[in-house]
Amino acid sequence: MLSWLFPKKTQTETPVYQEHKEDFSDVTIVAEYFKELTGVTFDKQISILNSKAKSFCQNNNIYSYKELLNKISQDKVLKQELINRLTTNETFFYREFNQIAELVSLIKQESHPVRILCAPCATGEESYSIAIALLESGVASNKFKIIGIDINSDAIDRAKKANYRERNVRNLSEELQQRYFIQEGESFQLKSDIKQLVEFHIFNIFEERFKSLEKFDYIFSRNMLIYFDADTKQKAVEVLRSMQKDQSKKIFFGHADLF
Ligand SMILES: C[S@@+](CC[C@H](N)C(=O)[O-])C[C@H]1O[C@@H](n2cnc3c(N)ncnc32)[C@H](O)[C@@H]1O
Repeated sequence: MLSWLFPKKTQTETPVYQEHKEDFSDVTIVAEYFKELTGVTFDKQISILNSKAKSFCQNNNIYSYKELLNKISQDKVLKQELINRLTTNETFFYREFNQIAELVSLIKQESHPVRILCAPCATGEESYSIAIALLESGVASNKFKIIGIDINSDAIDRAKKANYRERNVRNLSEELQQRYFIQEGESFQLKSDIKQLVEFHIFNIFEERFKSLEKFDYIFSRNMLIYFDADTKQKAVEVLRSMQKDQSKKIFFGHADLF
């Protein structure tokens, strides 16, 4: 009676423990995969890659680099997390300011509104620096549009939030800090009228869909090529050239990028 209320006792199941054979002996398969995907080479920093990739695997219960590559081929979120873990996003406001000043003087000579690309933009400081420098030199905000792209989705999220620390704004005068940021304790929040002058997107410059962006009058590509080998630098330069409206114009690279 009432037996249907109680499930039949089944034989106690013995949990099956899958044996995982840990193998982090050959990180070169990760290095090759990552270079193919992003252009970034770890040839001279293989032990740094090994420690980052191994801790990434351990945090995600992955027991070997082969398993990592298998999982990544099926899991876009995990793939993006690996990209975020292995790319370096160091940047700050008014970095190598002489190039920004040169861009400003070129734009002042333009009679039409210009499109400016920052590829890569990391956490946004370079793109916002260009906006600030243009406004400071009297260029009206409707005379330019700045687009920042980066392969690192965490960096793009932070760029959109535009909340910085003292070390990010250290090159700005106190006057500029006060004019463009709301400071609360340690935090420097960029004001919304500057934020809206810049658009940010996640893009890998080697992806086909990057080329579908409308072309640009001016391109900044600083401190990304330093992570590429000679052949990949060449490919990156070709991609960036193809994004220019007028190829006779200069692309702004970082001082260490092309050597
Ligand atoms: C050091 S930051 C440079 C930021 C800024 N341009 C500057 O000079 O201060 C380098 C950035 O390049 C990005 N990056 C690396 N490979 C990339 C690729 N294939 N496509 C887009 N961004 C990439 C990284 O995610 C990183 O944020």
